[in-house]
Amino acid sequence: MSDIGEKSGTGSTMSTGAPAPSDRNSLTIGPDGPIVLHDVHFLEQMAHFNREKVPERQPHAKGSGAFGVFETTEDVSAYTKAALFQPGAKTEMLARFSTVAGEAGSPDTWRDVRGFSLKFYTDEGNYDLVGNNTPVFFIRDTMKFPHFIRSQKRLPDSGLRDNHMQWDFWTNNPESAHQVTYLMGERGLPRTWRNMNGYGSHTYMWVNAQGERFWVKYHFHTHQGMEHFSNAEAAKMAGDDADFHRRDLFDAIARGEHPSWTLSVQIMPYAEAKTYRINPFDLTKTWSHKDYPLIKVGTMTLNRNPENFFAQIEQAAFSPGNVVPGIGLSPDKMLLGRAFAYNDAQRNRIGTNFHQLPVNQPKVPVNTYMFDGQMAYHHSGNAPVYAPNSGGRTWADETGKMDDGWEADGEMVRSAYTLRPDDDDFTQPGILVREVFSDAQRTALVETVSGALNGVREPVLSRAFQYWKNVDAEVGARIEDAVRSQNG
Ligand code: HEM
Repeated sequence: MSDIGEKSGTGSTMSTGAPAPSDRNSLTIGPDGPIVLHDVHFLEQMAHFNREKVPERQPHAKGSGAFGVFETTEDVSAYTKAALFQPGAKTEMLARFSTVAGEAGSPDTWRDVRGFSLKFYTDEGNYDLVGNNTPVFFIRDTMKFPHFIRSQKRLPDSGLRDNHMQWDFWTNNPESAHQVTYLMGERGLPRTWRNMNGYGSHTYMWVNAQGERFWVKYHFHTHQGMEHFSNAEAAKMAGDDADFHRRDLFDAIARGEHPSWTLSVQIMPYAEAKTYRINPFDLTKTWSHKDYPLIKVGTMTLNRNPENFFAQIEQAAFSPGNVVPGIGLSPDKMLLGRAFAYNDAQRNRIGTNFHQLPVNQPKVPVNTYMFDGQMAYHHSGNAPVYAPNSGGRTWADETGKMDDGWEADGEMVRSAYTLRPDDDDFTQPGILVREVFSDAQRTALVETVSGALNGVREPVLSRAFQYWKNVDAEVGARIEDAVRSQNG
């Protein structure tokens, strides 16, 4: 026999705990004979291996994360009664960072928006904030989301990613201009996850102890400084190390360098949303910081690596619908759609009882009227399985006006949002390009967009030139010139 190596310690076991006979030789009739069917250990190994992958996230497949703590250092109790945001509260948490369009094995330095998912294991249940490294998004109706993601993924015939398809979607949906400007700027290539900001992006609701409601936007500012790759650096890194961002975070934490971010919020009094000059629930817009300045809340620090990537990161399940008392959703049509999408994705991706896995379990006791299903582990014994019941099991019975609700009235329609005086798709991206970007950043934008238009055909190409001229006449003309000279 050519086998090398020592039997390790007392060997391994089968999943039953009984000793495993061998992890390197199957049971055969003689050294050269066929494998026998009753080699249960062999059969179990092969069968389980066939099932060791779960579907990757659709979207945000490539990513990683770490555990940490959120500490509320300021007093924002005037705006929210949420326990995790009371002065001095320290809450254990998990963060996962990701790219949007690439598959699980794709380079994490490809130009893309980065996911910024947070799970806070609070004293009142799990609170998830599932945001990005940009404050806005490409679309403002959930109905468009599957179309958007497919346009960023792969062609049906060749299985290739395709610039033409991406610009076809973006130029047919001009509300994308603000986010596309961010994406084609520096934010599309963060140097590491530690060097990027995070945003809740949507408008959420906060409710204080007196029942007063506020609209809120979350901003996480990196203490490591915002740093970015150039196109050339990112392209090189994608080839040299497809896991660069994953490795960077893991190694930094292992070295004891614990990345941290300051959380600040913008707060809009409840009634002002009705008359603000833009629709404050439109996810393609930011709120002016002059109108609603940042208010500091606290600090998030990531200080513990996962011990097992699959169990603690791949099986982590975040949902923007997971809120706690003192925090609510808003009339943003994107947010309301997301409140359904995530838990459903996780039932499919991980399994019916994904919420029972250690990484997803709250730290507080659970008394849910959801039972059984595949892989049910936690159970409530013989307690009643229906409500109301006379068996002493408590049930929820909230009625009347909701603490974190809002008013709505009107005919049922299928329609875009009602436009406000300053609502248009190009003003804010225009300001970003003219007033926030430097000369060098504008030049880089022209270079990046003209590169990204490579392979885009008519009529999409002309639409793309017009799209950029709508953002900024000069930048649009420079992009057109660059593409025309590139195409000879
Ligand atoms: C309404 C449109 C949207 C829908 C239907 C949607 C749906 C999804 C789904 C199904 C997943 C995979 C979840 C999983 O398998 O665990 C996902 C992941 C993700 N989405 Fe969205 N999404 C939408 C918009 C957004 C927006 C606006 C943001 C950011 C502001 C965002 C950020 C993320 C992030 C960060 C992840 C990765 C979660 C993780 O780390 O596990 N999505 N999305």
